[in-house]
Amino acid sequence: MGTHTLSDSLNHTFDQIILREGSQSLKYDGKLQTFGANDVTPMWVADMDFAIPEAITKALLKRANHPIFGYTIAPESLYETLIDWLLLKHHWQVKREWIVLTPGVVPSLNLIVAALTVENAGVIVQPPVYFPFFSAVTNQNRRLIENPLVLQDDSLGNLQYQMNFAQLDDCAKDAKLLMLCSPHNPVGRVWRKDELQSLLAIAKKYDLIILADEIHADLVYSNAQHISLSPLASESEPSSSNEPHCIITAVSPSKTFNIPGLGLSALIVPNIEYRQKIVAHLDKIGVSVTNPFNLVAFEAAYREGGDWLNALMAYLQSTVDAAVAFIQAYFPQINVIRPQATYLLWLDCRKLNLNDEALKRFFIEEAKLGLSPGAMFGRGGEGFMRMNIGTSKANVMAALTRLKHALA
Ligand SMILES: Cc1ncc(COP(=O)(O)O)c(C=O)c1O
Repeated sequence: MGTHTLSDSLNHTFDQIILREGSQSLKYDGKLQTFGANDVTPMWVADMDFAIPEAITKALLKRANHPIFGYTIAPESLYETLIDWLLLKHHWQVKREWIVLTPGVVPSLNLIVAALTVENAGVIVQPPVYFPFFSAVTNQNRRLIENPLVLQDDSLGNLQYQMNFAQLDDCAKDAKLLMLCSPHNPVGRVWRKDELQSLLAIAKKYDLIILADEIHADLVYSNAQHISLSPLASESEPSSSNEPHCIITAVSPSKTFNIPGLGLSALIVPNIEYRQKIVAHLDKIGVSVTNPFNLVAFEAAYREGGDWLNALMAYLQSTVDAAVAFIQAYFPQINVIRPQATYLLWLDCRKLNLNDEALKRFFIEEAKLGLSPGAMFGRGGEGFMRMNIGTSKANVMAALTRLKHALA
C-alpha cells in the first residue's frame, strides 16, 4: 500500500471539475462574445480551471472578514517573500530597492515602452509572440521591429523554435528596446544559457535595453531549466563596472498560482535611472496598484504556494505527455510543438490547408473547441492554434477526442 501524499490529494484537486460559468469568468462567460457560440469548450485565455492553493484562499477570506476596504500599502513582508522566492526558485538575489510593484505585466510592458523610449524609437519583438507585445509598442507610437523566431530541427530531430541572431544583430542597429518573452508564449520555449548569452552580447553591442517578461518562469517542465536573464547579465560584468544594468524583468504570481484576475505584478529594475523614470511614469497615470485582496494573495502565493506548484507541474506534465501522445497517434495532419514551459500547446495545423478564418471556424464549428488562433500572435503564427490545457486531464482528452472526430 502506498502512502497518501500531499501530491496525491492535490492531483485529486486538479482532476476536479469546477463550474466557472456565472463567476464573471472571461474564459467561460465570455464564450459567446468571443466565439459566437456557447457550445464550445473554452481553451483560450491563459488562466487555469484549477482551484488555487488553499493558503491563498485562506488569506483572502481572512482579509475579507475585516470589514473595511480602504487604500492600501504593501508591507515589507511582501517584498521579502518575493525576494525569497526569486532566490530559492531562480537563484537570483534581488535587492529590495529594485522592486517596483505594478498592476499586471501587460500594463508593465506599456509602462516600460512609454517611460524608457521616445516617440518613434525602435522596439524589437520576436513573433509569434503574446500579442500585447505588439500593442505595447504601437500604443505608444513606437516603431515595431520584428525578429521572427525560426522553426527548425534541433539536434534530436524535433522541430523547435530558435532565435535568429544574425537578423537580430541587424534589427538592433536601429532599436532602443527589446521585449523578450522568457519562457516564450505561445511556442513554449525555455531559452538556454547560450541563447541568452548571445542575446546579451547583441544588447551590449548596440546599447539595447531588454525587458524580460518572465511571467511563465515558474511553469517549467522537468526537461528544461529557466535562467533569469538579469542575473546572467550581472555574472558577465565585473562588479566594479559602472555600466548601467540594462535588464528589466517582469515577474508575477498570477500565471503560476492561477490568480491573474487579481492583477498584481512586479518589475525588477536594478538600474536606478530607469527605476526613477518608471516610478515617475506610474505616478503620472495615477493608477492604484495594490488593493486589499491582491496584496494578501501575492504574499500568500509566494510564501506558501510551493508544494501546490510542484504538484501542479507534475499534473500538467502528465497531461502534456498524454496530449502529445494522442496527437501524434491520431492526427498526422497536426504537429504539436512539445512545450518546455507553460500550460499552452502550440499546434501546427498548416497541413490542414485552411486559411486562418477557416481554421478558426473549423475548431469552433466542427470540433466545438474555443482555442486562440495562431494568427493573433503575429508573423509565423498563421496556420497554428494555441490550446490551453490548464484544465482537468479528462477535459483535455475529451477535447482532443472531439478534434479527432472532427478531423475524420
Ligand atoms: C507572456 C505574458 N505576459 C503577460 C501576460 C499577462 O499578464 P498580466 O495578466 O499580469 O497583465 C501573459 C498572459 O497570458 C503572458 O503570457
